[in-house]
Amino acid sequence: MRKTKVICFANNKGGSGKSTTCSNVGYGLTQLGNKVLLIDGDMQLNLSLSLFDEDQVLAFAQGDRNLYEGIKKQDDLTGYIVHSPYEGLDLIPSSTLMSSIEYELFTKWQREFILRKCLSKIRESGEYDYILIDAPPTLGGWVMNILCASDEVIIPVESTPWGLFGLGNMFEFLEEVKQITPDLRLGGIVITKVDTRKNYFKQTLESLKQLDNVKVFDTYIRVDSGIEWSQDNNVPIMAYKKSSRSAAEYMELAKEIADEK
Ligand SMILES: Nc1ncnc2c1ncn2[C@@H]1O[C@H](COP(=O)(O)OP(=O)(O)O)[C@@H](O)[C@H]1O
Ligand SMILES: [Mg+2]
Repeated sequence: MRKTKVICFANNKGGSGKSTTCSNVGYGLTQLGNKVLLIDGDMQLNLSLSLFDEDQVLAFAQGDRNLYEGIKKQDDLTGYIVHSPYEGLDLIPSSTLMSSIEYELFTKWQREFILRKCLSKIRESGEYDYILIDAPPTLGGWVMNILCASDEVIIPVESTPWGLFGLGNMFEFLEEVKQITPDLRLGGIVITKVDTRKNYFKQTLESLKQLDNVKVFDTYIRVDSGIEWSQDNNVPIMAYKKSSRSAAEYMELAKEIADEK
């Protein structure tokens, strides 16, 4: 029986590396001997596409066993889990219908806690060491659900001026969420898509380190075309090209996250 830790990857800025980080940290954690469940919370289906090809992902999305259907019916999500081609790595796939999830939630009793309730059996079963949830680039009732279902939130931030600017909104939202789920912890910020040739990265690091009570992970993820190729092939970077720089970086990040458990 394992103690399951639920971590979500959230930031309302799109393109900050949430889905890439969720999938590759998930795979990295399995390489450290953990059993991991990934949950695709975004209608863009990117997390699902990181493990399965387009035909398969669309079949999940159009079927009746995806996250949207489970939340709509307020079902125990155990029956929605699919095994990925990788040992110890499972997925609850998403659907493009997630675009109307806010509407579905609107009239529900205790609507912020529906995902938490739907996950409770999986959590209590002790089947997984980690459940990692990929959030969409929004800050509404659905992301509130994702945060209320999590023990910890990790914020991937792109090393750009607008990437940093967007963080303010995220922190304000987290303060609101903490009023209804006080135990939610900020696991930390991970800087993504770094181009070390640019001085802007050093400035990003300096500004982030000045934030009070906010951990910045030592590992940052550099820009690497291997990431795009691995995603084009629907394979996590470590399985696609273990010798690549980003494979090593995501492995380091997975270790940092595992050390905190
Ligand atoms: N380290 C990286 N190097 C190169 N491209 C990356 C890297 N990380 C992410 N990307 C690319 O950046 C885009 C946005 O990343 P993604 O993980 O989808 O962000 P989000 O989920 O926050 O919207 C994707 O096209 C992805 O392929
Ligand atoms: Mg995404």
